[in-house]
Amino acid sequence: MVARLGLLLFGALVQGAVAANGPYAQCGGTGYTGETTCPSGYTCKVQNEWYYQCVPGTAASSAVSSARTSSSSAVSTKPSTTLVTSSTKSASTSASASASASASASATSGAGVKCTGTFTPVSASAFVKNINPGWNLGNTLDAVEDEGDWNNPKVTADTFDDIKAAGFKGVRLPVTWAYHFTTGSPSWDVDPAWLQRVSDVTDMITTRGFYTIVNVHHDSWVWADVTAAGANLTMIEEKFYRLWYQIGTKLACKGSQVAFEPINEPPGTTAAHADEINKLNTIFLQAISDAGGFNAQRVVTLVGAGEDSIKTSQWFKRPDAKFKNPWAIQYHYYSPYDFIFSAWGKTIWGSDADKAALDADFAAIRNNFTDVPLIIGEWDASYTNTETAARWKYFDFLIRTANKYNTATVLWDNGLDQFDRINHVWRDPTVLSILTNTTAGTTNSLPDSTTDGSVTTQFSSAYAYHKAGDAVTDVVLPYLFNGNTVSSIKNAKTGAVLTKGADYSTNSSAIILTSAFVKTVITSSTATGSLANLTVTFSSGAPNTIEVVQYATPVLGSTTAKLPATSADLPIPITWKGQSRPAAVKAIKSDGGILIDDWTQYLGPLQQGRMTYSGQWDWDANNVILKATVLDAVRSAGKTTTFTFEFYPREPTNVANFTLTV
Ligand SMILES: *[C@@H]1O[C@H](CO)[C@@H](O)[C@H](O)[C@H]1NC(C)=O
Ligand SMILES: *[C@@H]1O[C@H](CO)[C@@H](O)[C@H](O)[C@H]1NC(C)=O
Ligand SMILES: *[C@@H]1O[C@H](CO)[C@@H](O)[C@H](O)[C@H]1NC(C)=O
Ligand SMILES: *[C@@H]1O[C@H](CO)[C@@H](O)[C@H](O)[C@H]1NC(C)=O
Ligand SMILES: *[C@@H]1O[C@H](CO)[C@@H](O)[C@H](O)[C@H]1NC(C)=O
Ligand SMILES: *[C@@H]1O[C@H](CO)[C@@H](O)[C@H](O)[C@H]1NC(C)=O
Repeated sequence: MVARLGLLLFGALVQGAVAANGPYAQCGGTGYTGETTCPSGYTCKVQNEWYYQCVPGTAASSAVSSARTSSSSAVSTKPSTTLVTSSTKSASTSASASASASASASATSGAGVKCTGTFTPVSASAFVKNINPGWNLGNTLDAVEDEGDWNNPKVTADTFDDIKAAGFKGVRLPVTWAYHFTTGSPSWDVDPAWLQRVSDVTDMITTRGFYTIVNVHHDSWVWADVTAAGANLTMIEEKFYRLWYQIGTKLACKGSQVAFEPINEPPGTTAAHADEINKLNTIFLQAISDAGGFNAQRVVTLVGAGEDSIKTSQWFKRPDAKFKNPWAIQYHYYSPYDFIFSAWGKTIWGSDADKAALDADFAAIRNNFTDVPLIIGEWDASYTNTETAARWKYFDFLIRTANKYNTATVLWDNGLDQFDRINHVWRDPTVLSILTNTTAGTTNSLPDSTTDGSVTTQFSSAYAYHKAGDAVTDVVLPYLFNGNTVSSIKNAKTGAVLTKGADYSTNSSAIILTSAFVKTVITSSTATGSLANLTVTFSSGAPNTIEVVQYATPVLGSTTAKLPATSADLPIPITWKGQSRPAAVKAIKSDGGILIDDWTQYLGPLQQGRMTYSGQWDWDANNVILKATVLDAVRSAGKTTTFTFEFYPREPTNVANFTLTV
């Protein structure tokens, strides 16, 4: 679907007036296959790993300025970080790089760790089965520069108790090593305290019966980026060998529950990059083998360019037969980009076409590696920004499809989008139930929602919406029962059980809340906002929630402003009246043109002219926020622009306009 997105963009450009990339167009990102150069005066900036964009500026500043602070997830509260890429002036040839890598390998061979314990070998397919379903300890040991530097405190063992209780079988442990090398180049020695910390956290995980994957994480963007201008491949290969030799030495005697992943999402867009990444897989295997202990028998999950299914499927090379490690392929999945990252008004997921695209993506890599165990080591649809019914459908279908293609899943969780580690609660308990129930093969019932963008309203049966001031009537909630029946509905807070007949009824495709029941929740004096959560249980599968929400259109504190001389994020005060978040934001210039991503004119009416969450718009408890980049776009266009903030439920009147004049 990432490639399909690239094709869509490319197709739009071909049809439209623009010949090459224009201002603010996509210029790269994992899975992207379109034009990568930007027009004069613009530079390609990494908005996130899936989406690079042409923004005003010169190349010099862009090479190191990156908004990307975490693997995945459209959460906006991560600190912005400058990632410094290799600035070495000239690249070595592949041949000499290869020679030096094997030279360092032979220099250290035979000096491996001897373990006293026993190791129970496990096949790669058994490992993959045993880690399923898995959870990522995201934004923690992978934080730049140190554990605790991003949105999570240092991990404590109780987090893994919580993850165990939630029903997970495995934990992926992303670790960024880049900022833990001691000085004294070129020894590339890792701080022993950091090796010890990684070893200790690995033990916290495995002593709870989990299977785990330890990796090298954001190093892929900091010093090990084989695509960086002037990348010194000799340096990357030698440092990579040295790093894995040290990790392999420290973790040499860990049990077979511990697997290694050479490197997270290594950038790469060409066959030559992919060859280099294949070589890094080999260097990794050599390094851990040289380190000794049980490493030669340890499961490894190897990776391809970008760690995405498309480039991995195309270019991944099987490891040399001299390495005896049981191996799987790991890839990551954040598709479709627009739904996962709330771009271009895509608040709906679950049409037949959406499902076919996901199925085709999983099938393609499975069909190319019929005999290789596969792990989706990261995937997510975050509670913070995706629409609820769409998210539940996505969780259900993704896991079902992974089951179909015998592929394990490991959920990404940056600490803000799924599990609240401090308060020990799942932000959306329903996705957790859907995930575990679907992994176990149970069929879930799901709330329906509008399934395509060709209409101008969007409903979601995860909510019983009532518009303030309207008469209270029966609320019909279209439902996909998938063969199950409703067992009970109860008020989550009071525990009161609804009476079938008097309070609700069902037919083969809907749950109907009676007006008599709804009137017990909503009276003429009830305020807007969330009024009740109804827990629905079914004859089988995950329980769902119906959130009763009374809404009115939120009110902006101001509706116009003059474009300031310099751009900064622009908070616009808002009084929420229902769900406290925008669904989408549309930007139309005074000449009727679309401000950003002009190609969205080819999308449906719920998507035309809409911008992208996080990079372009955001919100908090008291404001909707236009990002500085949007103000830049208005200045560059030189046109007064009207921003239409759209809320849930999406309908033409549930919007508020804000105009930025030039
Ligand atoms: C590339 O890295 C190698 C190994 O660290 C180093 O010996 C060499 O001088 C570097 N090349 C350049 C051009 O910096
Ligand atoms: C399958 O692998 C072959 C050979 O490596 C590659 O050429 C092809 O593109 C791959 N197919 C898919 C669907 O990725
Ligand atoms: C299904 O979800 C319910 C509610 O979260 C949970 O209690 C149950 O264990 C789940 N079933 C499976 C097989 O995971
Ligand atoms: C279910 O009930 C709703 C509300 O009365 C109705 O609109 C819908 O057509 C019914 N569906 C079926 C399949 O009976
Ligand atoms: C319903 O659940 C949501 C999500 O957890 C919560 O934000 C809201 O406050 C709840 N509403 C009530 C009335 O408890
Ligand atoms: C908001 O602005 C758009 C033009 O961009 C206009 O079509 C629409 O009617 C306005 N809506 C409201 C509620 O003012």
